[in-house]
Amino acid sequence: MIYLDNSATTFPKPKEVQKALNDVFTKYGANPGRSGHSFSLASALKVNEVREDVADFFNVSRPEKVIFTSGCTEALNLAILGSVQEGGHVICTVNEHNSVLRPLFELKAKGLIDVTVAEPENSARLTVSDIVKHIRPNTYMVCVNHVSNVDGMEAELEAIGELCAEHCIYFLVDAAQSAGHKVIDMQKQNIDFLALAGHKGLYALQGVGALCYSAKAKLLPIKFGGTGTDSINVRQPLEAPEAFESGTIATPAIISLGAGLKFVKEHYSEIEEKLDDLTTYLNYELRSIDGVKVYTHPDNSNGVLSFNIRDMPSTDVSSILDEKYKICSRSGLHCAPLKHKFNGTTYQGSVRLSLSYFSTFTEISRTLKAIKEIAKG
Ligand code: ALA
Repeated sequence: MIYLDNSATTFPKPKEVQKALNDVFTKYGANPGRSGHSFSLASALKVNEVREDVADFFNVSRPEKVIFTSGCTEALNLAILGSVQEGGHVICTVNEHNSVLRPLFELKAKGLIDVTVAEPENSARLTVSDIVKHIRPNTYMVCVNHVSNVDGMEAELEAIGELCAEHCIYFLVDAAQSAGHKVIDMQKQNIDFLALAGHKGLYALQGVGALCYSAKAKLLPIKFGGTGTDSINVRQPLEAPEAFESGTIATPAIISLGAGLKFVKEHYSEIEEKLDDLTTYLNYELRSIDGVKVYTHPDNSNGVLSFNIRDMPSTDVSSILDEKYKICSRSGLHCAPLKHKFNGTTYQGSVRLSLSYFSTFTEISRTLKAIKEIAKG
């Protein structure tokens, strides 16, 4: 099998992550932050260690500003719903996933906010000039997808962050596809809310993500319940991180995130180099196949690439890749309808190949050969 659906979830996971999970069943199986016994404390200490590692890796101002969530979708919902300013205006982009669009358009439908969707003028990147023209006096947030899950398009984080800081606007970055292989520095890039997925470029289990928020960002809980703190109080406590982590947290997945992060730190330059080389090779070769249209810009080497073969439904191409060649890809709309509208692929969708540290040159060559055969008909 050739697995090229790493934007959905990375597979395989590093052996270090597998080992950390094995430890969970013997050393950290208790509920952290709920009981005073040593088993529970060991789990709590381990979870806090991961919180510190996440804070350190993304330069978050304090570990308490790292909230563990069930995934990137919950992190984005928390950022958007937990910081809503009634009567305000939010700018997002065509690159957004439904996990940003749906909470925003829910707020808009309720008459609470107005939303503008910015489009990139330049087909290579989403730039600060795509955003600045939409700022209004009541704009309080800019939401930007760092790397598009459809075609890998990247946003200029630093310049957009500077713009937001100048205008006192919150800057929310959806780093689902970029965390683990692009430089993200919350303080340097003026990011107020950073939403992370554990199970993609951070090589953790499914079931964990994180929302990191800046010292100046004001955030309210959107989920209520037991926190293991201030239990006499029937009102939700407001101290982070517990205020935002009601319910039993996903300790095994969080511990796997710690191990995944360690793996990423140790292999950072190899990951970058591999994604760069393999995406460039794939893009270049695909463009030379008769009948293939590639949507990913040739300068983009983020490990996410979209294409179609003539007018074949993308789902058919993906099924042939799977059934005949044992190659896993993802077709359709990738939960990012506005990006497909922008690319003119709403009806056809597109076939997405997405890479990880474990992808190889041989796998990409075999995939190219398969696509050539399918395109020949
Ligand atoms: N958002 C994930 C993807 O792009 C699931 O496949």
